[in-house]
Amino acid sequence: MGRTNMKTSIKAAIIGFGRMGGFFLEEMQKSKRWEVAYICDTNPRARALAKKLSPGSQVIDNEQAIFEDESVEVVGLFALADSRKRQIEKAIRAKKHVISEKPIADTIDREWEVVRIAENSSSLTTVNLYLRNSWYHHAIKNFIAQGEIGELAIIRVCHLTPGLAPGEGHEYEGPSFHDCGMHYVDIARWYAGCEFKTWNAQALRMWNYKDPWWLQCQGTFENGIVFDITQGHVYGQLAKDQTHNSYIDMIGTKGIARMTHDFKTAVVELHGINETIRQEWPFGGKNIDRLCKLFADSIEAGRAHPDLPSLRDAAIASEYAWKFLENAGSNDLPAIGDLHTLKQIWERRRRLTNGYGLSQRF
Ligand SMILES: NC(=O)c1ccc[n+]([C@@H]2O[C@H](COP(=O)([O-])OP(=O)(O)OC[C@H]3O[C@@H](n4cnc5c(N)ncnc54)[C@H](O)[C@@H]3O)[C@@H](O)[C@H]2O)c1
Repeated sequence: MGRTNMKTSIKAAIIGFGRMGGFFLEEMQKSKRWEVAYICDTNPRARALAKKLSPGSQVIDNEQAIFEDESVEVVGLFALADSRKRQIEKAIRAKKHVISEKPIADTIDREWEVVRIAENSSSLTTVNLYLRNSWYHHAIKNFIAQGEIGELAIIRVCHLTPGLAPGEGHEYEGPSFHDCGMHYVDIARWYAGCEFKTWNAQALRMWNYKDPWWLQCQGTFENGIVFDITQGHVYGQLAKDQTHNSYIDMIGTKGIARMTHDFKTAVVELHGINETIRQEWPFGGKNIDRLCKLFADSIEAGRAHPDLPSLRDAAIASEYAWKFLENAGSNDLPAIGDLHTLKQIWERRRRLTNGYGLSQRF
């Protein structure tokens, strides 16, 4: 299913023009390899913004025209999880390639159904598990592969930010540990190179919200590597000056490799048996430029680039994020704080124009 004419740009359509849809448009516009022919959103304010930012695109409120247009090669699905399965199925039926946001559906059964449909088709598909496209995780993985830290034994991941608060959107994506945490579940599995074996999770219902917004899970992989993952959007939403704490810490039998970032710059520190290396480069945001490049390469080659995250990877990460939440629910699940504080957080975040994970762009 490779392309015969590499000179023409790849005709794409974006469905869902919120925060992520906007990022994809921006990257596709920067590259000559893409032409965004359609932008579809059900919200009139999103469509008004789309017309302004991409005057050459057809801006529509009904996705159907995209699936009926045979010249559209790639559909980018960036709306919310409740519409994703239907849209992926339609795209594949119309013989289009798919770039999907995560999660790939709103329940685990539907996610596996999507995987089955995609794997039985000739369409190329990928999902925005963006950490897999980052320079820093590749630098660390390469260092480990060289034997510099001995045998990888312990994977420690932490991502705490004053980001999306409960009730602010993404209801179909689940609590914080599923919506955002599945990235960290996925990257731990990517490093371990095998499947989860055991887990034990502790969570907390911050601000007395019905769902936990902080969770820490520890456990093992089939190959004996142990992990701990800490994730929460509970990190000082009302602090005068907001900050975050995000790192990965890989501990081997002989050395260590770690990374931290401030969302602008990522710092990788590699302490191996032969070399000590410090790398400090731009963070790279959601690495959508790399995802789009790998996907364009795949379309031209007629087969998926091996680095592209698969829908199966996304279903596994989602399934384990749910399993860890379920496990936390069977342990003590305390509540601290009250809904009044949560209301103060909503009010503050509504006024912010520059903040962590703000959804409203219009
Ligand atoms: N990969 C990542 O790092 C990452 C980060 C943030 C969000 N996401 C995922 O991306 C998706 C979108 O998140 P967002 O933050 O951009 O949300 P958002 O609320 O900013 O944008 C969603 C947009 O989709 C539109 N929409 C909803 N249903 C639609 C439909 N049926 N047809 C067309 N348009 C529709 C909404 O009007 C809105 O403009 C979510 O599923 C989320 O999980 C992924």
